[in-house]
Amino acid sequence: MKKILIVPVLIGLGLLLLLTSCEYEFIDSEPESSDTANVSFKTDILPIFNTNDNCTSCHKTGFTPPDLTESNAYNSIISTGLVDLATPKNSKIYKVPGSSDHAWKSYTQSQSSKVLNWINQGAPDN
Ligand code: HEC
Repeated sequence: MKKILIVPVLIGLGLLLLLTSCEYEFIDSEPESSDTANVSFKTDILPIFNTNDNCTSCHKTGFTPPDLTESNAYNSIISTGLVDLATPKNSKIYKVPGSSDHAWKSYTQSQSSKVLNWINQGAPDN
């Protein structure tokens, strides 16, 4: 009698494990979650613009605005209204380099989500 009961209990435990591991994976892969708090303009965003002149080959002082050089990027982005704090996804600094209107250069997926996370955080000069 005891042996007959053990089997369904084991199956039950197995199912429980399966379900909880699935749930964990779900939470883990959800976008814009845990890394939101840690985006720094200086160490995460600026390098997107400046590394290998990714954006600054065109967006530099005296050339096509916004000026994305290290010392001017923040002020230039804010003063030309490229950030929309009310609707972060509409921010031009997020949207334009991902659209066909800006065929010169696009963000990678990870650059794109960093920029969006930074705006979601309130676009601080940090
Ligand atoms: C090869 C040159 C070139 C590169 C590289 C380039 N851009 Fe641009 N970008 C332009 C030009 C030209 C415009 C102006 C287009 C227009 O006015 O329609 C523009 C417009 C923009 C705008 C819109 C500005 C506004 O006021 O509407 C943003 C934001 C922008 N670029 C961001 C970036 C970012 C971020 C990068 C790097 C990932 C980048 N660009 C790389 C040429 C470039």
